[in-house]
Amino acid sequence: MNIGILTSGGDAPGMNAFVSRFTNLAKNHNYKIFAIKFGFQGLIENQVVELNKKDVDNIVHLGGSFIKSFRSSEFQTEKGFSSALKNYKKNKLDCLIVLGGDGSLKGCQALMKSGVKLIFIPATIDNDMYYSEKALGFDSAVSSAVEQIDKIKQTMLSLNRIFICEVMGRRCPDIANYCSLAVNADVTIADKKDADIENIYTQISSALKNGSEAPSIILRENILNANTLAKQIQNKFDIETRYDILGYTQRGASPSVFDRIFAQQLADETLGLITKSIFSKALGLKNNDLETFDIDFADSVTKR
Ligand code: F6P
Repeated sequence: MNIGILTSGGDAPGMNAFVSRFTNLAKNHNYKIFAIKFGFQGLIENQVVELNKKDVDNIVHLGGSFIKSFRSSEFQTEKGFSSALKNYKKNKLDCLIVLGGDGSLKGCQALMKSGVKLIFIPATIDNDMYYSEKALGFDSAVSSAVEQIDKIKQTMLSLNRIFICEVMGRRCPDIANYCSLAVNADVTIADKKDADIENIYTQISSALKNGSEAPSIILRENILNANTLAKQIQNKFDIETRYDILGYTQRGASPSVFDRIFAQQLADETLGLITKSIFSKALGLKNNDLETFDIDFADSVTKR
């Protein structure tokens, strides 16, 4: 059997751990594994290379995607899609494993409708694959962000400054909420509804009243401008206020213990499905257990 594997969209810690585990397992079954480099774009451009066990040695602990990823807008065009399909057939692939987020799941839907046998693995730091409690990479991104916020807090405490840490998450509040809980932040701006400036001032005032020497604010990206907010707070309280945008360090983090083990479980389950010829499935967590969902169902869940 020839199995294709690709990572699509923003990379996520744990993608390498999955590819490594799956390649090793599949090779034991004498299956051939083909990495499609740069996600769906690589399928359009026929960037297909066979993976062997030695290629995936020593990558479990690495962030990023060693088989490369890409946000392919060309795949959404008729021409791009038909080239991708042509190359899928040309390489005599029997099935495809796709690791990615919501855009990648949409890509899977389209390929499935054209007869491609597929398994989808939720992998995005944003944790916005709502059919699954966790996506691969989320835990690592949060752990990395928390480590950085702890460090920022130490220097802010030394100078009694107010500080804002902006985290990623695109439209999903999960990274911000988890970070906020983990560092016991004074203000959390994870959703548009948290963005009211008077409400933010009230929370900072009460933190100061309660003795906080360096009130902390966790801000999710795409809600407020961190620089403007810092200036507003500094003017209001006459206390030095700084901001830090944590950015891509979250996404490039090395996978946490949770994500390494999660990646292994996902790989084991994927192989189990393939050996039983079960396709059109998305894997995910429900009540902390690994479960198999229909891809159509997974795509239909848009809220947690
Ligand atoms: O989807 C993952 C993510 O890191 C988001 O948190 C962020 O908004 C976005 O990707 C950044 O995308 P890009 O890599 O295209 O700048």
